[in-house]
Amino acid sequence: MVDIDRRSFTALAAGAATSLTLPWNARDPRLRHHPRPFASHTVAFDKYSLTIDGTRLPLWSGEVHPFRLPSPSLWTDVLQKLRANGYNAVSIYVNWSYHSPAPGVYDFTGVRDLGRFLTAAAQVGMFVTVRPGPYINAEVDAGGFPGWMTTSGGTARTNNSTYLAHVDEWLTAVDAVVAQHQYTNGGGTVLLYQLENEYSAHLTDGAGAAYMAHLYAKVRADGITVPLFHNDKGRNGDWVPDSFSTNGESGRYLYAFDGYPSPSSTPPDWGYFGAGGTTGGSTASPNTPGFEAEFGGGWFDCWGGAEFSGQGYAGARSSRDAVYERRFYLTNLANGIKIQNVYMTFGGTSWGWLPAPVVYTSYDYGAALDEARNQTSKLVPMKQIGLMLESVPDLAKLDAAAAVAASNTSIKTYHLTNPDTKAHVYLLRNDSSSTVSSVTLPVTTSAGTLTVPASGGIRFTGKDMKLLATGIKLGHRTLLYSTAQPMYQATIGNQDIAVLTGRSGDPVELMLPAAKAPTVTVLAGSASSSYDAANARLRLNATLSGLIRVLVGYGDGCLPLLVLLADDAASTVLWRHATAAGTVLVSGPALLRDAATSGAAVRLTGDTTAASALEVWAPSGIRQLAWNGGAVGSATTSSGSLLASAQLRGPGSVSLPALTGWRFAAENPESAAGFDDSAWRTANKTASASVTPVPSGQPVLFADDYCFHYGDVWYRGRYSGTSGATSVSLAYSSGTQGMLMAWLDGTPIGTHRQPVPTSSQATTQNWTATAAFAIPASLSGGGSHVLSVLVRPMAHSEDGGSNDAHKTARGLTAVTFAGASPAVTWRIQGGDPSADPVRGPLNTGGLFGERNGWHLPAFADGGWTGVSLPRSDTFQGVRWYRTSFTFAPPQGVDASVGLTLTDDSSRSYRVQIFLNGWNLGQYINNVGPQHTFVLPNGVLRAGAANVLALAVLADGTTAAGPGTVALTLMGSALGGVPVTNV
Ligand code: GAL
Repeated sequence: MVDIDRRSFTALAAGAATSLTLPWNARDPRLRHHPRPFASHTVAFDKYSLTIDGTRLPLWSGEVHPFRLPSPSLWTDVLQKLRANGYNAVSIYVNWSYHSPAPGVYDFTGVRDLGRFLTAAAQVGMFVTVRPGPYINAEVDAGGFPGWMTTSGGTARTNNSTYLAHVDEWLTAVDAVVAQHQYTNGGGTVLLYQLENEYSAHLTDGAGAAYMAHLYAKVRADGITVPLFHNDKGRNGDWVPDSFSTNGESGRYLYAFDGYPSPSSTPPDWGYFGAGGTTGGSTASPNTPGFEAEFGGGWFDCWGGAEFSGQGYAGARSSRDAVYERRFYLTNLANGIKIQNVYMTFGGTSWGWLPAPVVYTSYDYGAALDEARNQTSKLVPMKQIGLMLESVPDLAKLDAAAAVAASNTSIKTYHLTNPDTKAHVYLLRNDSSSTVSSVTLPVTTSAGTLTVPASGGIRFTGKDMKLLATGIKLGHRTLLYSTAQPMYQATIGNQDIAVLTGRSGDPVELMLPAAKAPTVTVLAGSASSSYDAANARLRLNATLSGLIRVLVGYGDGCLPLLVLLADDAASTVLWRHATAAGTVLVSGPALLRDAATSGAAVRLTGDTTAASALEVWAPSGIRQLAWNGGAVGSATTSSGSLLASAQLRGPGSVSLPALTGWRFAAENPESAAGFDDSAWRTANKTASASVTPVPSGQPVLFADDYCFHYGDVWYRGRYSGTSGATSVSLAYSSGTQGMLMAWLDGTPIGTHRQPVPTSSQATTQNWTATAAFAIPASLSGGGSHVLSVLVRPMAHSEDGGSNDAHKTARGLTAVTFAGASPAVTWRIQGGDPSADPVRGPLNTGGLFGERNGWHLPAFADGGWTGVSLPRSDTFQGVRWYRTSFTFAPPQGVDASVGLTLTDDSSRSYRVQIFLNGWNLGQYINNVGPQHTFVLPNGVLRAGAANVLALAVLADGTTAAGPGTVALTLMGSALGGVPVTNV
């Protein structure tokens, strides 16, 4: 997998890069979408698109959050998969809370090594949009604000000086990393930088403009030189250029907007063909390119799964499927949107205490690349569109042109033209769910207006959309028109190659100018041709099925044209990659990660998920193939390709060990009356910066005020000399699915859990309740008493409304008694965000087991009791189960493994899952919907022992498990990337 080029890239990226031999031909204009990282570049824009050194660059980007994949080796896997599937950029949030356990402390090492991610992106050849907030939302705890900021005065997301001082501290730290990786200064591929996130407050009172101006100036002062932008929360026209001070700088700031249209709606026209004006989307900023900083590529799901009726992320993936993508993303393209970022393209995992109240552990999002890093069918349209944008430069500069109507007016038609090349582009959409056939369309060509196709008609399956082009280049030839969507074109070896695509069964027609009758050879599949001598045109007709190959020899001394007509299945296994000798086109394997030529050989790396053919169109002089380091015998085909003589192997079967040998220990000694809490903090503050009022006459009990920001929190309240208390009321405030349990003098007196959100509560961030527990007569005497309370606060609210919602209290808020009024003194204990500098602030909460390392692999559990699962125990409190297992995938196999928990869904308990000490998620047995938790390779160690620890919290109302706990194979491929353990 390792080659010289990659090594030298890494070395250069780490040091000061001065020159570099690029692994591809930088002069080839078709390769302008491939970044050339380690030289300085001019990044600019006009109303159509970004430009790099004067050349247009449409950005086809996918959102990925490095912090949602805690295994840096796998960042390269994700980046390579997106690059191969036609994306030329990724957009990333940088989550402040992930890097800062305490004020003034910033960590960019290990899984938080932002520089490593940016270097990997440059090596893979992906541009990067960096979005460090300070506020990010993103369905993360407090919307990205660190826990310690919940106790800070000064309204967040305003120009308050206390807040701005925190912001400057963060930006100084993160910008120091980002500044080293910019495309402008030759450090890497960072191309754009976002200020704030969907900031929709203080629009007119001056405070917002002052805040934005401050961010702009600060980021520039930190050495960020790429264009800056903000993502308007919808089409409101907020924060367009000149709406706040950019310190005298002009032309370096872009307007962008976000959109998450309902997948059942008609795709919106948020540009050329829409309402226009300040609320029309890109029309709000006529002099900057149409820019969708976030466009829905899925959606998030809530605890209980009401958002997708319990289907989990399969529901997001089926409602925002490949058909959705074509209709909505091509509509964006029709509307002049040249910077399009799909949120999310790889969602990943909100591990530890990352998830905001509105989500559970999985952040799969129904994205094109699933949480287990599997390529889904949603990548196919992305690849078809991405490669089209890459190889058809006409699409980077389009103006709306005169309306044309298709023969069937139920087909929505957009007409655009490139003013320089005179190419015309038609985007046609079927908004019905039925197939519409025999459609014709008048199109503008170099030969005048033609009604196309000449034979048959255009077919649209339900909800399909396609792009038809006239006048674009196919290698050295110019297309008169095609009813199949262009996917890719390049000159490879001794021929021009044009790939056109559509749905299987679509009739397609291509018309090519040809001065004299060409030689047409159908090499594979079925196609017909006819030559019109009077008009000097060749017509090709076919019905899409697999990969149809037609070779057109012009007999004019110039290169022949190989037409490849690919249906979706054929597109899925078609890959391009740039090498020093030119482009290679590969068909067959499940993924092409990399290609490099040396002498007569092309060395390919990639994945197979089953035995696969390997066919390669390679630059002239290439006669040998190597796949994943091994030579592959091949022969030349009539298509001008090299075809491997034998199939590439697939991954074979992967067997996973059963989880046995469990050991068990009960905890919560904190509930016992005699527990020594003298080292705990006394909860006696009287004032708080929280937005939750401190109840009069009571101390502040909010966990954050005592620096316990993540995970469980214990309280112990002492009182004496009061008799007759009949009940105690515990008021608490939490994220979704918060819970508490209480004991008086060691006796359980009750538990409470927040309700499961209904679909209308799916985005509710804050949940409060008062749990009233009866005090047994035996515990209401006048002696001394200890009230122990364990609260699981879940997450801090996000601050989408800029109203300091992240400062809403977490934990107990008030405690009152009936029958007596004891004076209670409180002590509090929780997780220390600085306790685990490797796994970071959000890994570890305040359970007794966590405070004593029971989750860590090295913990000696020899004294624990051996047990087997499933379990059926009724108790109120916390119990731990540990086991170890060896994960030994076959050599070279990238096995993606999950942990699946299942049990009788009436049982009320939850499990915190730790693998080798990493907190990989929370399972709530009676709530769901998530049952399988991804165990990322690198955290999961191959060929070594792995320690699994489960912390079970049960409320005692039913028997509790764990039930069945097993490893699940979520995907496997022969290939993958080398993985270093974290
Ligand atoms: C956007 C926001 C993102 C994320 C998304 C929904 O409005 O900018 O951070 O929250 O919604 O997933």
